[in-house]
Amino acid sequence: MQVIDNLITLYLNNKNPRALKKHKILMVCLGNICRSPLAEGILKSKVDRSKILVDSAGTGDWHVGQEPDSRSIAVGKKYDIDITPQRGRQFTAKDFEDFDIIYVMDNSNMENVLALAENDSQKKKVKLILNEIFPGENVDVPDPYFGGDLGFENVFKMLDEACDQIANRF
Ligand code: 4NP
Repeated sequence: MQVIDNLITLYLNNKNPRALKKHKILMVCLGNICRSPLAEGILKSKVDRSKILVDSAGTGDWHVGQEPDSRSIAVGKKYDIDITPQRGRQFTAKDFEDFDIIYVMDNSNMENVLALAENDSQKKKVKLILNEIFPGENVDVPDPYFGGDLGFENVFKMLDEACDQIANRF
């Protein structure tokens, strides 16, 4: 019944142009190959994608255009989440205009993103993702890049719980 659902959505959107506005959520880490691609894939698997747009980016530019890290791809696959179509891109100041919420993976990402913000309303969009499950504790999603596979499994579990909280609100 996907076709009928889509027709109903189109009809309602024409009646009410405000309904066209999707919530836009951006996941940000350093390289955009390990943590944020997983966060993007996990959240996409939990929400109605006709209502919510999810993307990811890195504050660094080393992996622009690249596939996610093979260890992130593997842990995603283990839990039925395919992140292979994603490609790395760098966070830019325009993302503050394009997204409603910017979830950063750690405090260092937070500093790098906030350094590009031009005003308080942009700054308010930036949140540490693990504050979704540990409110106010400002805990980092540890960077698994230089570690082993277990690090990726742990990252997956943390992000899965945080994305459950996010998805419950939509
Ligand atoms: P991510 O991990 O920020 O979770 O994508 C990293 C990936 C690459 C690098 C650092 C962290 N790097 O230095 O290339």
